Amino acid sequence: MSLSSNLSKILIIDFGSQFTQLIARRVRELGVFSEIVSHKKIEITKIIKENLSGIILSGGPLNVYENDKFKFDKKILRLGVPILGICFGHQVLSKLLDGKVKKSKHREFGLATIKKVSNSILTKNFFNKDKTSNVWMSHADQVSKMPKNFKIIASTKNSKLTIIENTKNNFYGVQFHPEVTHTNKGKILLRNFVFLICKTKKNWSSKDQKLKLINEIKDQVGNNKVICGLSGGVDSSVVAQLLSKAIGKNLTCIFVNNGLLRKNEETQVVSTFKKKLKMNLIYVNAENEFIRKLSNVSDPEKKRKIIGNLFIKIFERYAKKIKNVQFLAQGTLYPDLIESKSVTGSQTSKIKSHHNVGGLPKIMKLKLVEPLKFLFKDEVRKLGLELNLSNDIISRHPFPGPGLAIRMPGIITKEKIKILKEADFYFIKALRDHGLYDKIWQAYAALLPVKTVGVMGDNRTYEHICLLRAITSEDGMTADFFDFPKGFMQLISNQIINNIRGINRVVYDITSKPPSTIELE
Ligand code: XMP
Repeated sequence: MSLSSNLSKILIIDFGSQFTQLIARRVRELGVFSEIVSHKKIEITKIIKENLSGIILSGGPLNVYENDKFKFDKKILRLGVPILGICFGHQVLSKLLDGKVKKSKHREFGLATIKKVSNSILTKNFFNKDKTSNVWMSHADQVSKMPKNFKIIASTKNSKLTIIENTKNNFYGVQFHPEVTHTNKGKILLRNFVFLICKTKKNWSSKDQKLKLINEIKDQVGNNKVICGLSGGVDSSVVAQLLSKAIGKNLTCIFVNNGLLRKNEETQVVSTFKKKLKMNLIYVNAENEFIRKLSNVSDPEKKRKIIGNLFIKIFERYAKKIKNVQFLAQGTLYPDLIESKSVTGSQTSKIKSHHNVGGLPKIMKLKLVEPLKFLFKDEVRKLGLELNLSNDIISRHPFPGPGLAIRMPGIITKEKIKILKEADFYFIKALRDHGLYDKIWQAYAALLPVKTVGVMGDNRTYEHICLLRAITSEDGMTADFFDFPKGFMQLISNQIINNIRGINRVVYDITSKPPSTIELE
């Protein structure tokens, strides 16, 4: 029996929202076990037997009047378990209970202010002193007629039924998204639902998460051999440790030097994983192969696809040598999935092909093991601590699989790589020396594909622009630029220009995500 099968849990029914995994993450943050089931796959006979303490219905891109497009068994409403409907989930709940939903005259997207109408346990400490709270909305339809036996808890100017409740049956509906950070007190509302309404006890920690993932890996791979693409970053390091605990000697890690790594990275990774952690590690120097395949390629998506494909080719080559390898493990995280493709089959648009998701070849001989694919970066870091990985590894800034290739818009040359490696080295060293590294979520140097004129020692120069990027973020999904003191900016600009030939101008990227992304390509 799996670790989690008899735990009481919050069941999240997914209707295809981009934020469903965020709901699960918020529940995990509260120390409570949760599970997501697609509305298409839910079986009432199965969930009747489960130890449910509450149900959350997610948002989604559908309309409730398109009955044929979504499934919801009305028997779920008779389980006697508290239910919270969020956005589309709120509309489904209302419609099934004889309310009405229609297109809103005034659609609400982004920030909205809601005003308290009555008291509710759900909104304990949720409203400010002036009885308002700022929430994040994303809806074109709205509940237009209240379902039977419900009352209004809060309204906005344009939608009266923004929070509604039926305390007799413990049904609650909210039109906004409490799971996103832009809803200022969203976590309070979810906490009230989980602890005050569902009366759940804390039953989930990083340790439980670790044991669950190890069990799932064992179930998935059995006695087969697995290779793990190790980059030395926090994600693949955590995956390698999990696999090592789950399957021991059946794991071989492969570290591919694609020539697009940071200065001295290959030496550091081999030393940490082979010498210190005693992992079974193969080092592959594929520098020339990657650079050859990328020559004259400047389109960002093409670069990503070439790199993703070549990684897999190399893994397959080594899998053949080791014999009987069936699986490839990688450190894919949830944000990689969201941005590369739609996870739920909904129409979310593709932003970029993260090398280990959208950059993979269509036909692969190896089956994927991706134990972190529903986790966010900070959760992976906690898991890393639980697995006794050193702080050095855990606190490293993220580094993308395509490496310096996507920090060098335009074509890639060995000369540019050399310059960029040096610039990045000076930037990161200065951050560490000034105690700034750990205050920043991710920082790097990039080389822009334009040259500009400068003057050095009375001579004209015509050289590259180095762009510095440093951001703060919670999970890489949204980000803001880091506010450096002027003294630090002067220092790093001088250091880069004085020490590196080929750069005569340094600029700092002051865009947030959105509208930009963290990487340049
Ligand atoms: P973006 O540029 O999409 O980056 O805002 C979000 C986070 O993802 C990292 N990133 C990648 N990581 N393979 C990876 O392993 C990739 O192809 C990839 N592309 C972006 C990026 O460094 C940032 O932390």
